[in-house]
Amino acid sequence: MLRDPEQIQRIVEDGRDLPTLSVVVTRVSEMVRDPRVSAAAVGRVISEDQALTAKVLKLVNSSFYGFPQRVNSVTRAIVILGFNRVRNLTLTASVLGALPARHGAFSVASFWAHSVATAIASDSLAKILRLPAEAEDAFVSGLLHDIGKLMTIHFFKEEFEAVMKTVVEKNCLVVEAEQETIGTTHAHIGGWLSQRWNFPESIAASVRMHHQPDLSHQHRRLVMIVHVADILARALGLGSGGDMRIPVVDEASWRELGLTREVLDQCMKEMLDRVEQTEEFIEMVTQ
Ligand SMILES: [Fe+2]
Ligand SMILES: [Fe+2]
Repeated sequence: MLRDPEQIQRIVEDGRDLPTLSVVVTRVSEMVRDPRVSAAAVGRVISEDQALTAKVLKLVNSSFYGFPQRVNSVTRAIVILGFNRVRNLTLTASVLGALPARHGAFSVASFWAHSVATAIASDSLAKILRLPAEAEDAFVSGLLHDIGKLMTIHFFKEEFEAVMKTVVEKNCLVVEAEQETIGTTHAHIGGWLSQRWNFPESIAASVRMHHQPDLSHQHRRLVMIVHVADILARALGLGSGGDMRIPVVDEASWRELGLTREVLDQCMKEMLDRVEQTEEFIEMVTQ
């Protein structure tokens, strides 16, 4: 028996059977909203969770940031990267640690390859378009945009299998098959999860609206960036989101972001230049 959308929403929002994130993540998110907070104070809170601290430092020292010197403390990372980026790192490390790394039939490795490619594309696009506010959260928003899919795979197995069957039978997009089979989509499921896990609103909006950027209000430009990045990752065949078709770029996003052929070419070039970082990232994720 497939569950209906309300039932799925209740299960995700209730969260009893879902993994929990480190309490440190919520505290850090609250702290960075306070302009008077010090790097040392945030560093102390993160350091209370040793496993999380180790993961954050591993991410900081990975090739994504490419610092010539090793960063050995969280406080130092905050000084170099700023509060928001370190908050995003704790969120990333905590989410990746909370989700099971493997799942039989579905290739979780190609799911993460798609997610990392979308993260890189979002980051590059925000920088090429000179949108510094969006650039802060672009990487993590791209990385987590399809988190609802991973939720469905792990916690709604029957529903996930029904969706994948529809994808094959109708040769349609996952998001279309989801709407038809379970009456909701991974974007909505991810949105409920984002609330449950207290994601910052910018990231939650990207998760919830990346397939309907034209309908988004808050963080509209970031949502549009993630929407375009998702399509570029598919166009370059980096990883897989579970379907073979490539959706078209939403017209409003194209217009409002001021996209041009040159911008997309430059972004795709950067994605290919950074593609070897994907391997390293997936290794960190699936360890
Ligand atoms: Fe998606
Ligand atoms: Fe995607």
